[in-house]
Amino acid sequence: MIIRDYRPGDFPQIEALWKETGIYRSERGDSPEVILQCNAQEGKFLILEDEINKRIIGTSWLTWDGRRLMMQYFAVLPSQQGLGYGRKLAIESMAYARNKGASIKLEVHHDNIPAIELYRGLGFKILEGYEVYLVYHDV
Ligand SMILES: CC(C)(COP(=O)(O)OP(=O)(O)OC[C@H]1O[C@@H](n2cnc3c(N)ncnc32)[C@H](O)[C@@H]1OP(=O)(O)O)[C@@H](O)C(=O)NCCC(=O)NCCS
Repeated sequence: MIIRDYRPGDFPQIEALWKETGIYRSERGDSPEVILQCNAQEGKFLILEDEINKRIIGTSWLTWDGRRLMMQYFAVLPSQQGLGYGRKLAIESMAYARNKGASIKLEVHHDNIPAIELYRGLGFKILEGYEVYLVYHDV
């Protein structure tokens, strides 16, 4: 398994992976153009790939808002979960942040025990007392 940077041709496989792992939301409007735009603004999109058959098995998208990194679309294909790949991808994402001197923020559903255990095990701490709000354009 290798971890490499996103390439434009990756998107169809990535979208399929997001759907398979249940993290895809069409209303977010994420697309190859948005990924390239975020990467041009000091973001990082990491791909975990089986280098033998060129299959993408994991993604970690770090976007930069000028102050800190947000880690989004963090996922590993269900057939490859529980094998240490999520930890590997998270550690690589954290190394990018460390080299940049930036903190990482992320959102995770409180029922998502595998992800919470992974993040906590790597030192992420909950921001107690906060709720997350969002508004889309059609309001
Ligand atoms: C969260 C996710 C990326 C973990 O990837 P993974 O490759 O299965 O994780 P790893 O095998 O590297 O496990 C690392 C740690 O995660 C935790 N973990 C993984 N699966 C777990 C499970 N089923 N139950 C509890 N903890 C679990 C453990 O702390 C584990 O460390 P350990 O092996 O020392 O116990 C994966 O479950 C996933 O893609 N889920 C669907 C998408 C998703 O919800 N992403 C998070 C969005 S915020």
